[in-house]
Amino acid sequence: TPVADSTDTVFAPSNIALCKYWGKRDAELNLPVNSSLSISLAHLGTKTRISVSDQDQVWLNGARLATGDKFARKVIAFIDLFRRDADHRVKVETENNIPTAAGLASSASGFAALMLAVDRFYGLNLEPQVLSAFARMGSGSASRSLYEGFVEWQMGIREDGMDSFALPLDSRWTELRIGLVKVSTGEKAVDSRSGMNRTVETAHLYQSWPLQAAADLERLHQAIAEQDFTRLGETSEQNALSMHATMIASWPPLLYWQPDSVAAMQAIWQARAEGVEVYFTMDAGPNLKLLFTADAEAEVKRRFPGLEVISPFG
Ligand code: PMV
Repeated sequence: TPVADSTDTVFAPSNIALCKYWGKRDAELNLPVNSSLSISLAHLGTKTRISVSDQDQVWLNGARLATGDKFARKVIAFIDLFRRDADHRVKVETENNIPTAAGLASSASGFAALMLAVDRFYGLNLEPQVLSAFARMGSGSASRSLYEGFVEWQMGIREDGMDSFALPLDSRWTELRIGLVKVSTGEKAVDSRSGMNRTVETAHLYQSWPLQAAADLERLHQAIAEQDFTRLGETSEQNALSMHATMIASWPPLLYWQPDSVAAMQAIWQARAEGVEVYFTMDAGPNLKLLFTADAEAEVKRRFPGLEVISPFG
């Protein structure tokens, strides 16, 4: 039962994984095959508010979504996990300030903000770990969007998933920059849930993924502890390409890249060959996310005109 007519507006940041979550060991609970590590995007994310209403409705960026809309249905299904009595209806208002032009996914920050709003609306006062574990059920990567900075989602071993939640790392890295290279903003052809399932079920190459991810996670921890940017960048780029290799080895093949994605990769490798330290990572879509440090910012911007640059640590 709601404890108030409406909640304050809550916020959760978007995040980008440096060691990716790819593959579920339990599709119902969104339990991952491997642990992952991300960096949150500071002020870029989702704001959400829930209020009592006479009918269930979901608003996105000021427009009401059709009842049958895929995202609206996911949001209401998520609310239903917590709605005990069926005699109240909710209005969920959600706004993304992630530049849609940057082609970033909003499900991570979306479900994290929704979980925070649900916690307020029903007066649950859940611990951060529990909030993270529940947000995970909306979207795996949402487990990491409860926190700022570097965040690790520990895969856990329990069958009920209550030990599969994220925790923040106690490290700041103020010089770190993230650049968003927009290749395409269109709706992706295969969503991450179907993409993961296809990979796990059909790609023999996927067998090597958990080992790669475990090793990369270790390297990233070391890189962050020592503020070793070369190690951070190399590990993140290799991790992303390894994940994409398992996608490509699926059947039917899963290739999220566009010709312009490959052109951007080549421009990055060329930049490195010329001594500019810039690396990339990519998710289940054609856009690239660049990693570099403040001292390379001017040069990276020169090479990627119109680049959106984020300082994750302010
Ligand atoms: O949270 P989902 O189900 O949208 O999956 C996210 C998958 C990747 O973005 C490719 C990797 C990650 O860890 O964020």
